[in-house]
Amino acid sequence: MDNHISIQDHHLTIGGVDTVSLADEYGTPLYVTCEQRIRRNFRTFKEAFPDADIYYAAKANWNLAILRILASEGAGADVFSDGELYVALLAGIPPEKILFNGNSKTVYELQMAIDSGVRISIDSPDELRVLSDLSVKSGKTVDVAFRVNPDVSPDTHPKIATGLATSKFGIGYKDVLNVYKEAKELSGVNPVGIHCHIGSQITDVSPFGEAAERMMDLAEQITSLGIDLEFVDLGGGLGIPYQKDVQTPEPRDLADTILPVFDARSRDIGITPKLVLEPGRYIVGDAGILLAGVNTVKRSAKNFVGVDAGLNLLIRPAMYDAYHEVVVANRADLAYEETYDIAGPICESGDILAKDRRLPLIEPGDVIAVLDVGAYGFSMSSQYNGRCRCAEVLVSDGGVDVIREQECYGDLIAKHVVPARLLTTL
Ligand code: LLP
Repeated sequence: MDNHISIQDHHLTIGGVDTVSLADEYGTPLYVTCEQRIRRNFRTFKEAFPDADIYYAAKANWNLAILRILASEGAGADVFSDGELYVALLAGIPPEKILFNGNSKTVYELQMAIDSGVRISIDSPDELRVLSDLSVKSGKTVDVAFRVNPDVSPDTHPKIATGLATSKFGIGYKDVLNVYKEAKELSGVNPVGIHCHIGSQITDVSPFGEAAERMMDLAEQITSLGIDLEFVDLGGGLGIPYQKDVQTPEPRDLADTILPVFDARSRDIGITPKLVLEPGRYIVGDAGILLAGVNTVKRSAKNFVGVDAGLNLLIRPAMYDAYHEVVVANRADLAYEETYDIAGPICESGDILAKDRRLPLIEPGDVIAVLDVGAYGFSMSSQYNGRCRCAEVLVSDGGVDVIREQECYGDLIAKHVVPARLLTTL
């Protein structure tokens, strides 16, 4: 287990805090995040890429407190919506270190990006033209990059591979040069960057090397148009070991693959762009766990453990068949006795958080910890089945802070409106 997660007196601990006591005090379900682990992960990335700018991918987890931690580490942000931009700015991430991404941005979002002074990664020729008009009307010139589809095929789940030629993201590799030519002639936009992101949970670094080569080929052609490239953004995507016996590359391995290409090619072309990277999962993934209380243990064709968290709070297993390690938090080091499916409370047969796990004996009242849920866990949660989202706490140096309160029924209906005519018909 990772060193921020350990076992004391049969109980699972995170950041030195007993998870069973957390469940007692704050109730379940409960998201728990370890501040020191986020800081450690960010620093590991930064140490591997000392000269690069690290733009944390806010979509992985945009809790304000977590963005604040990353802002204090000097992170920039990759944001993918007006809401993520709003929260990143609120957290204190400087606008000049924010890249606004997205394959289908609204006029409202583009205007917000212009007004905020952030840079924009343009995903289509249509978007380029709209942005140029908007910035001219605003009397501004915006620094932009183009999201390139490098047509690289990483070995990951098809739903999270984004750099294939058939993906909805980015401008086709062969069309990119024309878009830079057009941008050069347009007012209000200043092409200064080039951007790609080939996918997520990638556990072999070679596709990153391939993407870097292809992007530097383009950088050369773009430079020959007379465009001064200030940055090359190679996106995020480094995977983490969800299964503890599986080895995955570290940022250092990524650096060994990318940096020689980036440095040598920059030198050959005679340019000095900044390298930008956008890790999300690596920074926060293993820093978070989800505690779920056991309601029932039903022995039928399989042994189903009914817990109080399901795909409403963690959709990854249902959506990508993702594997997350589970631990019986109050019997963490006891030997396995039975094979269980951990089933959520949602009215969907697919609401199984973990399948066929060999675990110690489980009884109602036990606490199940689902590990490595810090990325794309809470940020993909919903209120499906009328379930309030749970609280989130941050553990730090043995202390505990609530960083998101549990939702209440009022939150479920906060934006519902019943027309007056329906109020009088009962
Ligand atoms: N940059 C861009 C433009 C992205 O689209 C993404 C992720 C990242 C950076 C960060 O990638 P990371 O380092 O976290 O792999 N919900 C899925 C993952 C979707 C990733 C979307 N884009 C999951 O739970 O696995």
